[in-house]
Amino acid sequence: MVNQKGGVGKSTTAQTIGNWLSQRGDPVLFVDLDPQGNLTYALGADASEVASGAFQMLVNQEPASTAITKTAQGDLIASTPELVQLDQLLAGKHGRESRLKNALTPVDSAYRYIILDTPPALGSAVVNALTAASTVVVPTQADIFSLQGLGQLSGTISTVQQYSNPGLTIAGILITRYNRRTLLSKQITEMLDNTASQLHTKVFSSRIREAVAIKEAQALRTDVVVYAKGSRVAGDIDSFMHELLKER
Ligand SMILES: Nc1ncnc2c1ncn2[C@@H]1O[C@H](COP(=O)(O)OP(=O)(O)O)[C@@H](O)[C@H]1O
Ligand SMILES: [Mg+2]
Repeated sequence: MVNQKGGVGKSTTAQTIGNWLSQRGDPVLFVDLDPQGNLTYALGADASEVASGAFQMLVNQEPASTAITKTAQGDLIASTPELVQLDQLLAGKHGRESRLKNALTPVDSAYRYIILDTPPALGSAVVNALTAASTVVVPTQADIFSLQGLGQLSGTISTVQQYSNPGLTIAGILITRYNRRTLLSKQITEMLDNTASQLHTKVFSSRIREAVAIKEAQALRTDVVVYAKGSRVAGDIDSFMHELLKER
């Protein structure tokens, strides 16, 4: 999940995709690379109690197996507040963009999917995530501010594709927190289409609507897919997941 804007639904999308895949029986590993730790919180883990997490793995090069925390929603490599220092501590280090990829290799075969949540800045966490990933989902809200700056993201993606991960694909742009009563303006629609072509991808036709069930599940630190079962937003999630898995 990548988009350098905050509050567009990256962490929620990471949780939702992971919850959906776990519910159908796929073993999932979540990795929270954002020092804010929203995903870590929503999965019910406590940053102050984890002995090791993403920081120890990326900076001290501790093995992923010791950085994993078990949660009720699946395995997690947790965020801790020290992650704010990541850029500074990795600066100038040889091969710094590949630390996540290399760290995850030994645990890769234990999971069907590894889901990476990134912070809202184009720093080393994002570069490490793009280097380790096979595909990227770009969540956005359907407003101008959320779409601005995605051009910068396309530069970062091209650089990573050129130097550290030639096989990286962009699965698509996902509209989140969608309000069905608001028609997308011509301006937004054009901007979405332009952004998609700049990223050499498409806008998913499935959209995730704004729904209180999502916020409630996160406040209760529980599985979004189980909590929202039978609701309309659960239908959005199903439709998005089928679209995502088909496109991969
Ligand atoms: N579909 C949705 N319906 C309602 N609230 C949502 C939805 N998606 C995200 N949110 C809320 O929006 C806020 C920002 O989402 P978040 O996933 O944390 O964004 P980001 O990780 O990009 O900063 C959070 O409070 C989250 O609970
Ligand atoms: Mg987030």
